[in-house]
Amino acid sequence: VTDVDRTSSLRPTLPGRDYVDPSVFAAEQDRIFARGWQTVGLAAEIPATGDYLTARVARENIVVVRGGDGAVRGFYNVCRHRGAVVCDGPSGSAGRTLKCPYHAWTYDLEGSLIGAPQLRAMPDVDRTLQSLVPVRTEVWLGLVWCNLDPVAVTVADSVGREVTARLGDADMIDRWGIDGLALGDRRTYDVAANWKLIVENFMECYHCATIHPELTRTLPEFRAGVGTQNAEAGYATFAPSVDGFSLSGQRHFPRLAGLDEDQERRYRGMTLRPLTFLNLLPDHVIVHRIVPVAPDRTVVHCDWLFASQVAGADGFDPRDTVALFDAVNRQDFVACESCQTNMGSAVFARGGVLVPTEHHLEAFHDWVRAALA
Ligand code: FES
Ligand SMILES: [Fe+2]
Repeated sequence: VTDVDRTSSLRPTLPGRDYVDPSVFAAEQDRIFARGWQTVGLAAEIPATGDYLTARVARENIVVVRGGDGAVRGFYNVCRHRGAVVCDGPSGSAGRTLKCPYHAWTYDLEGSLIGAPQLRAMPDVDRTLQSLVPVRTEVWLGLVWCNLDPVAVTVADSVGREVTARLGDADMIDRWGIDGLALGDRRTYDVAANWKLIVENFMECYHCATIHPELTRTLPEFRAGVGTQNAEAGYATFAPSVDGFSLSGQRHFPRLAGLDEDQERRYRGMTLRPLTFLNLLPDHVIVHRIVPVAPDRTVVHCDWLFASQVAGADGFDPRDTVALFDAVNRQDFVACESCQTNMGSAVFARGGVLVPTEHHLEAFHDWVRAALA
């Protein structure tokens, strides 16, 4: 769409084909997912030497491993011999070496090939040329971030700038102390919808009054269709009848240590392009990791993070807290899946429209178009 009328109430979305066409998805993999910083998990999930976690980034299998020096390093999880996956499963502990299960090529935790069966009979082989291929990896906010683009700017200079733009100053995010939080619960949703529908849905609150009764009971201002992404204040305030961000409205955990009284009753949600959502609450933080798998399929991992003393205490029970955003997630994904079934419709070929409380989605659409141009 080139002739966009930006003065009217109803403005165009992306065309339906952008949500179903494999060639559009392929371009997004190369130009968006392979060039952006994507979080793959928590650094706290791999505390010991040899602990690893695996992830899908764009088209690639990635492994992130804790070295003997304490550093977190990322590699393509692709054996240099014949291409097998070196580290299996979503996570594990490899000990001192990464050993390919197929023919036992063995790499150290810095990716160097240190052994292979019959290697001594191949004196011409330069082992240093057969290392695992590294991937840009950083730990920021306690999260492990990977980027396939070797010349990308740092996480702080990309995702960090978006956080700063939302919160107003660069140091404010530190008050939540996310790098000291522990995983309290994780839910994974396999969503039959294009990743952009999930991002767009998270960005707008026009749907909140219709599909999120529990959320709007907690945050009544969401009924007006203005979420925290387009609200002037940048946050929403709990209803007077509500003490905490939980399904029952009860407050279960103390305020995070770095926060002041003024953050006590506030919710902030933000999308960090391309594929991360961050929700800030007084007593916990929720991180969504979006993993686009196919034009019509996206896996979403949602982590609930709590102060480590809270999550480690006897009787820690996050269920009431988790139940609120788990309900929101499921309500959202039903709606996204409903839209996905019609993205290929003849009558949606030119797309739909955005109402004024959704106009800020145009910035996302412009960003996607620019990345693919
Ligand atoms: S594919 Fe890994 S050792 Fe052969
Ligand atoms: Fe929603």
